[in-house]
Amino acid sequence: MRSLLKSGIRRISGTEDSSTQSTPTLPSGNKDATVIAIAAQKGGVGKTTTSVNLASALARFHDLKVLLVDVDPQGHVYTAIKKQVHAGGGALSSILTDERGGREVMEISAETMVENLHVTPCDPRLAGTEDLLGTRIGKEFILRDSLRTTRTHYDVIIIDCPPNLGNLTVNALVAADLVLVPCDPSPLAVNGVDALIGTVSTIANRLNPNIDILGLLLTRVDGRNITLNEAVRNQLEAAYGEVLLPVQIGINNSLSKAQHAGFDVFEHDPTCRGAQNYEALSGIVAEHLKQL
Ligand SMILES: Nc1ncnc2c1ncn2[C@@H]1O[C@H](COP(=O)(O)OP(=O)(O)O)[C@@H](O)[C@H]1O
Ligand SMILES: [Mg+2]
Repeated sequence: MRSLLKSGIRRISGTEDSSTQSTPTLPSGNKDATVIAIAAQKGGVGKTTTSVNLASALARFHDLKVLLVDVDPQGHVYTAIKKQVHAGGGALSSILTDERGGREVMEISAETMVENLHVTPCDPRLAGTEDLLGTRIGKEFILRDSLRTTRTHYDVIIIDCPPNLGNLTVNALVAADLVLVPCDPSPLAVNGVDALIGTVSTIANRLNPNIDILGLLLTRVDGRNITLNEAVRNQLEAAYGEVLLPVQIGINNSLSKAQHAGFDVFEHDPTCRGAQNYEALSGIVAEHLKQL
């Protein structure tokens, strides 16, 4: 009965001989990437800055093959490193909204000037994808499924999320093995951490039992605000001490200048404090990956 049903469905949907109709199947590689989602409910906390510079640092200093996936319709990843991205690639929305499924994120990625760092190009149509996904059966699993073969070609896949807990962020969390949560020292950002950790717990219970928190990263720390910094760190320590990372990212103008110039910080100003902070973060992440 089951096989009758399956062959019947194939005939009805006209996919009896799918090998001749769909995009050619990508060959599997021999890697098994760890997927890291960089997520926070609040905007402006350093998600994109962290995604770009952590991805670049893992490729540059740890000899890891990295794919940086931008699921934020704002396309800030591309803006941040546009001078380093080679031509090519395509629209992530076309992969996520393909009715037949079976397409891979790798098909639309572009190479960059950094050896072993690939990136998905900016795609404003992802804004429409956010709504469209709401109507799809199995909508939470679409990105995960589109990374199935892609994962076998990379050591690490980093996903930069939009500043909300909508369909695209849920897709990223369902696809992820680990979540890195940037948080700036402001009360609003701390509340956002609570909301995000709550969502990650729900995802772990219902959709992705493999997900784990890689860490909580304090970003944009202004060394002059000693009292505020201490208050926030103590609050986070009390609530999430086990996952609060030992490295933090200070406010550093070179990071925003690099982003505006279209280069990662290691290309723009390799000796600045921001570059040092992100290199230190990459060391902690690379070590964590070795333990998995
Ligand atoms: N540590 C930092 N020091 C200085 N500016 C920063 C730092 N981190 C981020 N920025 C700047 O703050 C703005 C928001 O950062 P971004 O990474 O885009 O946040 P998000 O992706 O969470 O919205 C950008 O202009 C970025 O250049
Ligand atoms: Mg961003």
